[in-house]
Amino acid sequence: MDHFLYRDGALFAEDVPISEIAAAVGTPFYVYSTATLLRHFKLFDDALEGTDHLVCYAMKAASNQAILKTLAQAGAGMDVVSGGEYLRAKAAGVPGERIVFSGVGKTADEIRTALTGGIRQFNVESEPEMQVINAVALELGMIAPVTIRVNPDVDAKTHAKIATGKSENKFGIPISRASEVYALAASLPGLEVIGIDVHIGSQLTELEPFELAYNKVAELTERLRSEGHNIRRLDLGGGLGIPYTRSNDAPPLPVEYGAMIKKTLGHLGCEIEIEPGRLIAGNAGLMVSKVIYVKSGEDRDFLILDGAMNDLIRPAMYEAHHDIVAVEEPAAGVEQRPYDIVGPVCESGDTFAKQRNMPPLSSGDLIAFRSAGAYGAVMSSEYNTRPLIPEVLVNGDQFAVIRERPSFDEIINRDTIPEWL
Ligand code: LLP
Repeated sequence: MDHFLYRDGALFAEDVPISEIAAAVGTPFYVYSTATLLRHFKLFDDALEGTDHLVCYAMKAASNQAILKTLAQAGAGMDVVSGGEYLRAKAAGVPGERIVFSGVGKTADEIRTALTGGIRQFNVESEPEMQVINAVALELGMIAPVTIRVNPDVDAKTHAKIATGKSENKFGIPISRASEVYALAASLPGLEVIGIDVHIGSQLTELEPFELAYNKVAELTERLRSEGHNIRRLDLGGGLGIPYTRSNDAPPLPVEYGAMIKKTLGHLGCEIEIEPGRLIAGNAGLMVSKVIYVKSGEDRDFLILDGAMNDLIRPAMYEAHHDIVAVEEPAAGVEQRPYDIVGPVCESGDTFAKQRNMPPLSSGDLIAFRSAGAYGAVMSSEYNTRPLIPEVLVNGDQFAVIRERPSFDEIINRDTIPEWL
């Protein structure tokens, strides 16, 4: 459920008409709903009630500081995957003890930044990385809290580009080598081994792969404990999928996911961390765009928008589906017709949808991409020297621009010309 609904024939974000935001900031733009963000965070938090837990929002999904602050004030921790994300979380006021550092290639500089600024734990991905964390910690006279990410070799049954838990993927250490790697970690004086980390992929639409992985984590916890490790925290990653269409085959709910976690791991008495990103932000955001032209092709009609693949890359990159709706509510019974919905960028990949049924639209009409809050703005670029589009946060009847559209001068002046030219 989200807070983007039609009221009196027009699409609203909470209590603000989308058309009002468009008039104020211009198109295209991203808009997020505070109530939806908080609702989704709370679904996870409530799902783990009764267990010692922390929901660490995977901020790679949508990392504007206003979003981070909204969630952090509700009690969320953060999952970061780069030094930049770490600093952004800190800038948004998230305390270091609520930040976990994931990612397959943390550099010594990033590790130093996090250790100095305070960190809940590093999720270690390999032995060489473990050695570097140890070395940096010793150099700083500190002890780094770590979990080790194990690769459980399960099929997440999701898009190949976002599956991470098979042995062929670059993530984690093979679970079969865990004893050896934990023994190495325990021997390093700059590390304190506190738990296990696992993350098998994103946009999972069934519980089964999670359950297979978490059962393996449960077995591993007992084995490592018997080998003398004080395993007291389990980081279970993110990945629970969201409904991208309004069909009936919705993914499992956070409450079902939470119940499964308690069933598979509850007996171990560990603190539980989860790292959801998409489910918190995805359906809490829209990308709003304007029709520039309606072009009649030989055998099809095109809606040419002012938004493009550089603003929302998911359809081009993962063949992802986003529902696209007219901001002015179509009259009941109005006849829909198929359009190819495209952006103005100079490549055919700049196609959001093919032969998508839409109500009749004309130049100047506003449309909205649903489920665009996660992996939308954060994956955008300035390809074709198109400025990054603004982000807007709505809260009840208020809205604020939380990232301005840069001017062309700002973009162009970022280049520097070597003196020989
Ligand atoms: N934790 C780790 C270690 C991750 O790598 C990820 C996502 C998450 C948590 C959050 O997963 P989520 O709950 O959001 O599924 N750009 C792609 C998704 C990439 C996901 C990468 N890792 C997309 O647009 O579908």
